[in-house]
Amino acid sequence: RWTHVGVPPADPILGLKVVFRQDPFTSSKIDLTVGAYRTNDGEPWVLPAVRVATERLLTADHEYLPIDGLPAFTRATQRLMYGDDVASAVTVQTLSGTGAVRLSLEFLKRFFDAPLYLPRITWSNHFNIARDAGFADPRTYAYLDDATSRLDFESMLADLDAAPDGSIVLLHLCAHNPTGVDLTLPQWEILADLFARKSLLPLFDSAYLGFATGDLDRDAKPFRLFFEKGLAPWACVSFSKNFGLYSERVGALHATVRVEERDAVLGHLKKIARAMYSNPPAFGARIVSTVLEDPDLYASWLDSLHVMSDRIFETRGLLRSHLENATRDHDWDHITSQIGMFCFTGLTKSQVLELREKHHVYMLDNGRVSMAGVNTRNVEPLAAAIAAVLED
Ligand code: LMR
Repeated sequence: RWTHVGVPPADPILGLKVVFRQDPFTSSKIDLTVGAYRTNDGEPWVLPAVRVATERLLTADHEYLPIDGLPAFTRATQRLMYGDDVASAVTVQTLSGTGAVRLSLEFLKRFFDAPLYLPRITWSNHFNIARDAGFADPRTYAYLDDATSRLDFESMLADLDAAPDGSIVLLHLCAHNPTGVDLTLPQWEILADLFARKSLLPLFDSAYLGFATGDLDRDAKPFRLFFEKGLAPWACVSFSKNFGLYSERVGALHATVRVEERDAVLGHLKKIARAMYSNPPAFGARIVSTVLEDPDLYASWLDSLHVMSDRIFETRGLLRSHLENATRDHDWDHITSQIGMFCFTGLTKSQVLELREKHHVYMLDNGRVSMAGVNTRNVEPLAAAIAAVLED
């Protein structure tokens, strides 16, 4: 019956984690695969505010949420993104950032006849989500200059200028995945002018809000800039990284619409959600809203954002100096100029495979390293392994 169904390739991120787990070299293998925060001891971290909120929720019931999610959660998350100016925001609680991207693209495919543009290069799952939502052939716009591992802003502008007016353009809000290369604020301003001139629809993937710099307002700035310029941005927000709630699947889709359009847009988003998964899970959303609404827990959460982003920032410096010591004639400047969870090393696929096979170092085939997997214990062997494959 199923002989016509071939085995698909494993997921390049979550599939690789499975391969890592199966590697019997338990003492020396290094996991730089999935973007999930780790302490310097290589352990997952339950944020203190999340722990307190969880204890408070132990007696909560397990009733269904409304289709669009927990009202206290949607209200609180709107404020994180928009500040106080929420009159034109329609918000639906989603199955983390992935669910928000899927829900928004399902809606846009149905009601907004326009091509979709993704950055060249982007999170691999964007292509899966886009295709499953009916965008059979998502287009791409220039982003990273492979030769320099820096943003190719001129080509990005040229590609988006050549896009049909009214196209949907996915942008990474901050801590671009996989490159760690973001636009500067003056570049966002220039981009916003182009979006205005061409009536492009900005769809911000916001998986690292507060995680990139430790400063929520700074990380939200591109969205707010587009909003203030009247560009009606949408945002797909994940609370996996900034709350460490990976498995709870907590997220939100914010759609900026005219006030008189709110009921229709919300109604159809709910209709789509109802058919796909009915209504979202409550536990993680309750944790997030408990933290966001309690001043002490909120302050504790802001501290935790700094703890996580500071550790990653310091680890970048450490990795760079170990690599500079271990290699000659290599420029590692991009390790510290990139931001957020990931470092785009510039290593080739064959070097990455050699690292995996000979040294039990696991990074994505495209050379992406999850910086959270680097720590004071493994940074030296990691730099030595990279130096060894560069010499081969
Ligand atoms: C990643 O890019 O590693 C994370 O966002 C996890 C995922 O779902 O791919």
